[in-house]
Amino acid sequence: MGKKDIIYRDENPDPIETDQKILRIGKDLQVMSHIIKIILLIAAILIMIGACLITINSDFYLKVGKIFMDNSFYKILDAITDLSGIEPRFLSAIAWTISAISAVMMSFYAGQLEKFTKLIINEKNHFTTKAASTLRISAIMLAPLLLVNLFFALAMIGITVLFSYLFDYGAYLQEKADEKNRIEEEMIVSFAEITENKSGQTGQHVKRVSEYSKVIAKAMGLTDGEVENIRLASTMHDIGKLMIPSEILDKPGKLDADEFAVIKQHTTYGGELLDNVEGDIMHLSRDIALEHHERIDGKGYPYGKTDEDISLAAKIVAVADVYDALTSKRSYKDAWDEQKAREEIVKNKGTQFDSKVVDAFDASYDEILKVKDIYKDSCDFHK
Ligand SMILES: [Fe+2]
Ligand SMILES: [Fe+2]
Repeated sequence: MGKKDIIYRDENPDPIETDQKILRIGKDLQVMSHIIKIILLIAAILIMIGACLITINSDFYLKVGKIFMDNSFYKILDAITDLSGIEPRFLSAIAWTISAISAVMMSFYAGQLEKFTKLIINEKNHFTTKAASTLRISAIMLAPLLLVNLFFALAMIGITVLFSYLFDYGAYLQEKADEKNRIEEEMIVSFAEITENKSGQTGQHVKRVSEYSKVIAKAMGLTDGEVENIRLASTMHDIGKLMIPSEILDKPGKLDADEFAVIKQHTTYGGELLDNVEGDIMHLSRDIALEHHERIDGKGYPYGKTDEDISLAAKIVAVADVYDALTSKRSYKDAWDEQKAREEIVKNKGTQFDSKVVDAFDASYDEILKVKDIYKDSCDFHK
């Protein structure tokens, strides 16, 4: 993967960083509960071996036999049944066995904690305050185990309470990231709407380009978060058109060379406009706005960048944008037939467009057609 293929830059702050932080907490908790589960299981086995040794080896009984005798469950058992006739070392073995059973139970409980944490991470709903409350309730439900083995039960209750507070913290981070995402999304939608109005394009062009980009990004195997960011960021690909005079944007018919040179500047204008805005999606939008007319062979604009220097997101949007331009009616041309437009994209694979992007576009063409149908223009004419 080239340097430019990394969609999220290191210096970018929230929300990706927050998401990763949340994921890290989740993974740490998962590992922690797994280790606790194994330790408790080993402890149970060792205690059981100890119980056996006590019954067969009186020396061993004299050395360590008393260790688990003060467990409350054993004391209750002693109070309600007549244990006086049983040899002390057998009584000790009973107490040890009770402790081993409690360790197995706690190990099972740690296993459940591990599953719970894994589910939260895999389901992508991350941490919630509800999950934190569930953990606190289960900590209370562990209370009866205090009678069986004070040490193990206290440790497990403590761990569960600690987990619940970490879940609360995760939920807080998640809420903050969601809020930031929501504000960013609202801003992006507003920007896209303003651009559409100014550039005389129908709203459906922006929607189609962003949905096509989403389909291609998904087919390329990008993560859900990356796909969603590309979908959103691509809506601003032509934001630089805000700086282009309306006479040129609204001119019916083909543009002359000078006018086209002015139009081309929408890429650098877009890049400059988005350069000072913080956030992952905004940085992604900047790359897309600046590079969506670049070509792999270096014949694009504004800089004539080549393959490695063009960001993956811009390469994706380039295919989506051209396909939509080809299949849309303009004042100076008819809409191309869908199959012909598809062939045109494939024909330019490796020269105008990135090969992997074209392959993903071609492989998911049924999805592309579905999007085209859903977001078809209500009026069949736009510039
Ligand atoms: Fe453009
Ligand atoms: Fe466009």
